[in-house]
Amino acid sequence: MNHLFVETTNGVALLTINRPKALNALNEELLVELYDTLQALEQDAEVKVVVLTGAGEKAFVAGADIAEMAQMTPPAAREFARRGQQVILFIERMKKPVIAAVNGFALGGGLELAMACDFIYASEKAKLGLPEVTLGIMPGFGGTQNLARAIGPKRASEMVFTGKMVSAQKLLDWGLINEVTPADELLPKVKETAALIAKVGLLGVAAAKDALVNGLNMGKTDGFKYESSLFGNLFATQDQQEGMSAFLEKRKPTFNNR
Ligand code: CAA
Repeated sequence: MNHLFVETTNGVALLTINRPKALNALNEELLVELYDTLQALEQDAEVKVVVLTGAGEKAFVAGADIAEMAQMTPPAAREFARRGQQVILFIERMKKPVIAAVNGFALGGGLELAMACDFIYASEKAKLGLPEVTLGIMPGFGGTQNLARAIGPKRASEMVFTGKMVSAQKLLDWGLINEVTPADELLPKVKETAALIAKVGLLGVAAAKDALVNGLNMGKTDGFKYESSLFGNLFATQDQQEGMSAFLEKRKPTFNNR
């Protein structure tokens, strides 16, 4: 791998995007590495939660790689967007939670990547936006769809049509970001939250993620049916037996994710 670091501690995999010469911008090679690495993390039994961040103090990810995109034909650009969306959709469909730790600029494909994660913590220095229209294009890694769902179509339209950057604090107020921290407290805070998730029953977390992500694309009646079906499935697992027995026996549960 040329552009990614992975470090796993106590079930939490820290996945760092590292392409300093282009503020961690996503080129084709990086997208392939990201997709392959996320697939490996999904399969890795040691990993319970993934934290996604950018190397350095300046950027999470400054977007798709503009130098690479500049030469693209329409079919190549369509394929590039499809490849980016494949990564976004994979994160959304992973059984394991993925938390974005936005340490700096999250622009274009960078914000789209952060939005694919289950939730976002950000440094108070972070600036986020979808500046594609300033390049004569539009968001292509799911940004129009996910931003409107996250903050509503009016605020999303303003951000997309102007391309302006928005502070982490404002996006906290708008509900896109869960927590804003001083820069040096970002990773410790995210790891603290990830550790809480790593210690609960992962089958329950995976089913809840499935219900949350897929429920957003359903009407409420179907969403309720989907939820009760997933709820029922968990009662065939050892973790449900263990979690409830431990509660009744007043001891800590030991989940084995089966
Ligand atoms: N692609 C390629 N290279 C990039 C890049 C990107 N998205 N963003 C930054 N870089 C490169 C710069 O070209 C520069 O390289 P050189 O040193 O070789 O000149 C280096 O990173 C440092 O960047 P700057 O000198 O520009 O740093 P700055 O502090 O002056 O500005 C910035 C920082 C505001 C983030 C600015 O770099 C910027 O505006 N970047 C582009 C942001 C952008 O438009 N992103 C959207 C891309 S389109 C997209 O993502 C499509 C999609 O939806 C899939």
